[in-house]
Amino acid sequence: MRVAVFASGSGSNFEAIVSAVHRQELALEVALLFSDQPEAPVIQRAEKWGIPVVTFSPKSFSSRAAYENDVLSVLAAYEVEWIVLAGYMRLIGSGLLKAYPQKIMNIHPSLLPAFPGLHGIRDAFEAGVSETGVTIHFIDEGIDTGPIIAQEKVRILPEDDVVSLEDRIHQVEHRLYVEVLKAISNRINRI
Ligand code: GRF
Repeated sequence: MRVAVFASGSGSNFEAIVSAVHRQELALEVALLFSDQPEAPVIQRAEKWGIPVVTFSPKSFSSRAAYENDVLSVLAAYEVEWIVLAGYMRLIGSGLLKAYPQKIMNIHPSLLPAFPGLHGIRDAFEAGVSETGVTIHFIDEGIDTGPIIAQEKVRILPEDDVVSLEDRIHQVEHRLYVEVLKAISNRINRI
């Protein structure tokens, strides 16, 4: 199972996946880190692990279709079979969706369909709900709307602030993403 991780930011989920592969807990190959942010900290993490990095700046393309067309050429060159979004702050367009049907997954820091969008953790905290969580789902045309693969609840404690909540959510994300990828790769490796 050859995977490209797409990320725009810090890359702690990327790191969790790559280190699980390194510990041989996860039987897949991270063939590529792709980023739309040439300065993102995730790039240094990939370099540290010796994972190939490709970055494109979407601003330098005339349209999303043109951008995704070039992304698709890179994915073909690296023989990528699955796309794992890990903090990729950009909508996926029809070019990528058609080329990778039900093979693009995302992680979101809330119990979808609650609190979609860019600020899932803060929005749940400010709403005063007693629990939130993590969702891993397939991507479709919408914002955080695709079919759900796995979810895990995280309680919001009376003593929490956004930072402590975010910290616990990230811990769950790192474990859950590896578990889901393990289940998918086991299924594929058996076929
Ligand atoms: C995670 O909270 C993920 O759920 C969301 O973006 C964040 C990425 O964090 N989609 P990191 O870059 O993996 O540290």
